[in-house]
Formats: sequence, structure tokens, C-alpha cells
Amino acid sequence: MSDDIKNKISELSKQLEEHNYNYYVLSNPTISDYEFDKQLEELIRLEKEYPQYLRSDSPSQRVGGQITKEFKSVKHKYPMLSLSNTYNEEDVRDFDDRIRKAGVTDHEYVCELKYDGVSISLTYRNGELIQAVTRGDGEKGDDVTANVKTIKSVPIRLRGEGFPEEFEIRGEIFMPKKEFLRINEAMRKELIEEGYDDEEIFEKQLKNPRNATSGTLKQQNSKAVAERKLDCYLYSVLGEDLPFGSHFENLMAAKEWGFKISEDTEKHDSVEGVLKYIDKWDKKRHNLNVETDGVVIKVNSYEHQRFLGFTAKSPRWAIAYKYKAQQVSTILESISYQVGRTGAITPVANLKPVQLAGTTVKRASLHNSDIIEKLDVRVGDTVFVEKGGEIIPKIISVDLSKRKNNDLFSNESEPTKYIAHCPECGTDLVRSEGEANHYCPNEMGCPPQVKGRMEHYVSRRAMNIDSLGGETIAQLYAAGLIKNIADIYELKKEELLKLERMAEKSANNLLAGIEASKQVPFERVLFAIGIRHIGETTAKKLALYFKSVDALSKAGIEQLLEVGDIGERIAKTIVDFFADEKNIEIVQRLKAHGVQFELTEDQLTNVSDKLKDKTFVVSGVFTKFSRDDIKKAIEQHGGKNSGSISGKTSYVLAGENMGPEKLKKAEKLGVPVISEDDFIKMIS
Ligand code: IVH
Repeated sequence: MSDDIKNKISELSKQLEEHNYNYYVLSNPTISDYEFDKQLEELIRLEKEYPQYLRSDSPSQRVGGQITKEFKSVKHKYPMLSLSNTYNEEDVRDFDDRIRKAGVTDHEYVCELKYDGVSISLTYRNGELIQAVTRGDGEKGDDVTANVKTIKSVPIRLRGEGFPEEFEIRGEIFMPKKEFLRINEAMRKELIEEGYDDEEIFEKQLKNPRNATSGTLKQQNSKAVAERKLDCYLYSVLGEDLPFGSHFENLMAAKEWGFKISEDTEKHDSVEGVLKYIDKWDKKRHNLNVETDGVVIKVNSYEHQRFLGFTAKSPRWAIAYKYKAQQVSTILESISYQVGRTGAITPVANLKPVQLAGTTVKRASLHNSDIIEKLDVRVGDTVFVEKGGEIIPKIISVDLSKRKNNDLFSNESEPTKYIAHCPECGTDLVRSEGEANHYCPNEMGCPPQVKGRMEHYVSRRAMNIDSLGGETIAQLYAAGLIKNIADIYELKKEELLKLERMAEKSANNLLAGIEASKQVPFERVLFAIGIRHIGETTAKKLALYFKSVDALSKAGIEQLLEVGDIGERIAKTIVDFFADEKNIEIVQRLKAHGVQFELTEDQLTNVSDKLKDKTFVVSGVFTKFSRDDIKKAIEQHGGKNSGSISGKTSYVLAGENMGPEKLKKAEKLGVPVISEDDFIKMIS
């Protein structure tokens, strides 16, 4: 019986790894995602029931869940060196000359793309991945094995045969461009819902795929790593008994063992071939789903490599050729200024459309007045635009030689004067000390701010009045029927029917939606009323802590700081908000219309049944809530607390300093270990 189970687990593991390989290395899946998920679920179920058969090379390890408190520092068996850079054809020819002068003349070169990610060294023993270490300082790096196991194209167990008993293989972990865009887009949507403006969103988004990769690899919860689909190309094999005496041939062998080796690696027997390779990829590389910044050129034979040796920092047998960052020049046609929902002004450069790195660039962010001043950029100027891995192209500099005789102006231009008045309502702009942005202070009268606040109020995560969209708000505002969120509750059917394209049915729908919003719980109302910097999570914490708007509006800075995660800045915004008569009046009117401004009796005791049938073991020290608050929250959401981990435990909620024994036990029983943030997400 137990052998049957063991065999079943081993068979399922093998099949799942085969599917992973087909999908992530060969890009040639042979079963549907649904079938795959079902098999994986089956494996996880069996491993949970029979933890004695859970193997460290099980495909279930790729789902993540292991929490690493601190990455262990590991000394590299072979130091991880860097490469010297070259930037032009002459440098590459010099490299070839140096090799020839040293006495190596019958050599081959291997040309590879230079991937822009995070380098990693993987150790395999008896065909099993036993360790993954980052480059660190080249001598010592961080052990990130649990995180790397979530990367589906990295084999946990090797295929085929002929691999050495123990060897290292190095490569680059990267975030595919499409994945980078996917995450940023999802983040943007979420932040818009939470009420952040463009500038704040830009600050929070992932900056480029390389940063995103290194940030992801440093995550202490491997589940978070699994959610961001990283990938990995391997580009060098190291060890004492490798099958071949040359780099390229060992790479081809590694491909047979299941590693993802780039199809774009080529062998050339002259520097001319190398230069052709460089030239070929200059443009073509932008079509790849991985960010590249150059080409790496390596002498193929290990004997030649040994003969040529190393300088203090880098091998003499390899160099990197770096492509110039893609730049184009174009004309700055105008600067426009956008007013966000919070009144923040964002200057935008409108450019004469130009092709750059595979996309048409029409706009570039100018961020704020300081940047405009520093660049001294003026309308009509010819500007250099650069696009790195960043989302929005940057203006690098102005081509001053073209300033006088550009085709928009014949006279010499004047320095750009930043606007002093709001482009929407004409109010004098303000800029507070220490802030980079100008603001329009006319919160109650500036159209995009007023409309933006109402749009936020009705949005899905706030009051969820989906019968009242942005267009209708604009119509109602233009007709003078709504000027603030409280006016929404005083709309009359006769008034609505006078609007264009508003029939009886839509009017009824709209009014029903408004009526239904009176049932929306306090925490969402608090988010909906649009206090600056108060997102969903903060609103929830405030609601749970103060229980009513009356208590919250009376709170001083000191008391607000007692609520977890609320800092000086947010505390001050809340105090300022309730110090403003106009806001108090709106809150009072909403209240009079029946909008929820306190927790209901039911909420005070039983918030939801999201955690029904789930048993938690809470352990360690938490940063956002106290342990007691967390335990209370578990019960309020229908879950149970327990003191010790067993097969019946659904989750271990781990704070800081959780005992290693507990962690081990959870791992052994296959109980998922989650963080405070995971928990907050679960109950949100
Ligand atoms: S070989 C001693 N090959 O570039 C040779 N490196 O400046 C070690 N890189 O740290 C590196 N693609 O992170 C090599 N095909 C490639 C590469 C590559 C990207 C990175 C790697 C390394 C840095 C060297």
C-alpha cells in the first residue's frame, strides 16, 4: 500500500516535470493548463497526506510557500567574475589581436546575447538541484534555492544521462518583458482603484525588468516569487569532469539535460563572424521577450581559456560588447499639463512621433518643474529621447546646435515658464516645501478634481455604483446637478430624464444603484470619500480601530499613530480633512441620507465567513497588527485558532522570529506558511 502511494507520487512528479519542461523550456506544451493543474493538485494532496514521501525535488516545490528569514551567505566554489566591456568594432578587433599576440591563433569564438537580469549559480549533485546562489560580491552570494525552485524552466531534476556527479551551471534570471508589462498594468489598475494619481503610481511601479528580477529574488516568501513568472537562460557549465573540453559543446550537452540554453548562441571561427553577429542582433534583439544590453564573446576551448587566464577582475578569454542605449532625436511640439484627481500637476512632453526600440514614441514624462529647468527644455527644441527598460521614455538632453533654426520658430526661444495657474480652473498653483509637484488647491471647484473624486466614490472597490459611470458623472456635473459626492443622493428622476441618452430604465437603474450603496460597509465608505493617501487597506484598519466616523474625526495625531501602519503624513492628512468644515458638512449630509458611517453590530462580531473551516496557527511577532488582533480577525472571519501545528492546520501565519522548529514541522506536514500580508489579502 505505502509502496503504491510512493510510486504514485513519484510517477506524478515525473509526469509533471516532463510537462514543465515541454512548456517552459521547449515552449511546446502537450497537455492543457487545466489538466496540469489537476495533476499538480493531486500530487499536493498526496504529499500532504503522506508527508514522508515529500521529496525536495518535487514539482510541488515550484508553487512556493517557503519563508526564508535571512538568506544564508555561501562562498562560491569558483568566484563569479565580471567581464570587461567594449563599445565599438575597434575594441572587439583589439580583443582578438590581444589573443593572437598571446599565441592563440586557431581559436573559435562563442557569441551569446548578454541578458540583462541577475546572475545565478546553480549546483547539481546526482542530477538534483541542491543550491542556487546569487553573485553577491563575486566571492560570496545569497542562497536563494527555494525562490529559484519556483522558476519553472530551471530543472529541479535533470533529464537524460552523462551529467557529472556534481557540477555548477551559471546563467541569468530575468523577468520576461511581457511579464513585466503584465505586472505593471495590474499594479496600475489596482492603484487607480485605490485612489493614487499618475505620479504616485509611476513611483510605485516596477522600474525595469532587471530591478524587478532582483527585487523578486530577494522576497522572503517563495510564493510571492512563484507569482511573478521569472525565467532563466544558462550560459556556462563549470566542474571537474565535464563531458567536453569546450564551452559550446558543454552548453549543448546541458541542453540535453533539460536546461534552457538560448537558440541564439552561435560559434564563429573569426572576428568577422563575431562582428556580423553583433550587427545582426543590434536591432533584432528588441523583438525578444527578454531585455538584452549586449553580446558576450567567449573563446570556446577550455585549453585556450586556461592558457589566456585572468586579470584581477575578469577573464582574458571573454568580453562583453555593449550596445548603445537606444536613442533618437525628435522635436518637442508642446508641453501639456495634466491635473490629477488629487490636484497634482504632471507636465507631459508631446513629441513629434518617432520610432524607438520597436515602439512609436509620442509622449515623454517631464515629471516636474525642476526637471524641466535642469534640462532647459523648450518647445520647438530637438531633444534626445532614450528608452531603457523603462516604461515611459525619457528626455535625456536638448540638441542645442539645433535650437535657433528649428522648423517651428525662427527666433531664439525663451526658457520654459512653468505654468502658475491651473490649466483647468485657473486657480494659482501651490508647491509645498519638500514636494516636487505643484498642486491646484481648488479641491472643491476644479473640474477634474471634483469629477475625479466622484468617479472614485462610485468605483467598484468603493461604493460600487456601476450604473453611474464617468460619462454620466461628466454630464451631471456639466448640467450643474452634482458638485460633490453628497449631491449624488439628492438626484431626482425628473432631472435625470432631462439628460441626453437617459431613458426611464437607465434612470431607474441609476437610482437603484445609489440606493443600494447605502448598504456598503463603513470601511469602504471611508475609502470612498477620498481622503488623500488613504487606500483600501488603511481605510479598513481605521474603520476597525475607530469603529465610527465620529470617533475618527475627533482623533488627534497621537491616537492615529497608534493604528498600525499609519505614519505622520497620513495622520496629518486625516486631521486636516476633518478640520475642514466643507468635508464635515459632506459627511453629515451623506450620513443623513443613510450611508454607513459606523461598523454594524454584525460587523463588530462577525465580519465575514471567508475563513470558514480554516484552522490557523499564529506564531511570531507581527508588524502591522498585534498577535491578538490577528487572532481576533481570524475568528471574526469565521476561522479557528489553534496552538500547535498538525495535519488539520490549514495555514501557519508566520511573523518575525517564528521558531525554526515550527517552520520545519509546517514544511514537513506540507502546511502552507503565509505572511501577515498574505493574511490581510485573504480577508480583504
Ligand atoms: S559570462 C566570466 N554570459 O553579464 C564570465 N555573462 O559582466 C562570466 N551576463 O555577471 C559571465 N549574459 O550577469 C556571461 N551570455 C552571458 C551573459 C552574461 C548576461 C551577465 C552576467 C555577468 C555579467 C558580466
